[in-house]
Amino acid sequence: MEITIIDHPLAQARLTRLRDERTNNSGFRAALSDLGAMLVYEASRDLEVETYECTTPVGTAEGSRLKNPPIIVPVIRAGLGLVDPALSMIPDAQVGFIGLARDEETHEPVPYLEALPDDLSGQPVYLVDPMLATGGSLVHAIELLTARGADDITVICVVSAQPGVDRLAEMGVPLRLITAAVDPALNEDAYIVPGLGDAGDRLYGPRNIHL
Ligand code: PRP
Ligand code: URA
Repeated sequence: MEITIIDHPLAQARLTRLRDERTNNSGFRAALSDLGAMLVYEASRDLEVETYECTTPVGTAEGSRLKNPPIIVPVIRAGLGLVDPALSMIPDAQVGFIGLARDEETHEPVPYLEALPDDLSGQPVYLVDPMLATGGSLVHAIELLTARGADDITVICVVSAQPGVDRLAEMGVPLRLITAAVDPALNEDAYIVPGLGDAGDRLYGPRNIHL
């Protein structure tokens, strides 16, 4: 697995606002939006482009556009906070959805939504979720994508934990991981330490769906 850690000072300043327990919901959403756009910008550096002639008010220029824009797939809920920043960078992208919630006792993902195209072969997929902790949620999501033929998956996470990174690498699926941090450990509740807490709650308030 290819791992890229985005250590740009502006990205790290947003990450710090996300980590800070004093940042309220609206500040958290704003910092996640900024950092999400930066991560997607870096992720899309090598996307294939096609060129075309573009007429300016004073002449012609060689223009370029994405040949095959990626599909953005957020893991709901927290991944929803990365959809708008991703679309601001890649307005032509489609969006698919995977709904998962971690069981608080077992820490295993409980699936509740799958809204994806049937065939993802040859289509770049940006799987977005702010948190990679045990890796259970993203392993499940990646299995859903590969079952549909996805063969070009980029995982975009704000904070990744080393155990989750190891678990993705062990899948043996060719993946790229773009992240702003790899934190060392998980606590007894499988939260990332130091992490930033519960990303879904910090974006939207406490989750009250019981699956
Ligand atoms: C969070 C996060 C990831 C998952 C990571 O979602 O957004 O999807 O936990 O944990 P894992 O790597 O151990 O699986 P959560 O299940 O809390 O749901 P929410 O986004 O609805 O709050
Ligand atoms: N999910 C979160 O939102 N935060 C963590 O630290 C772990 C899982």
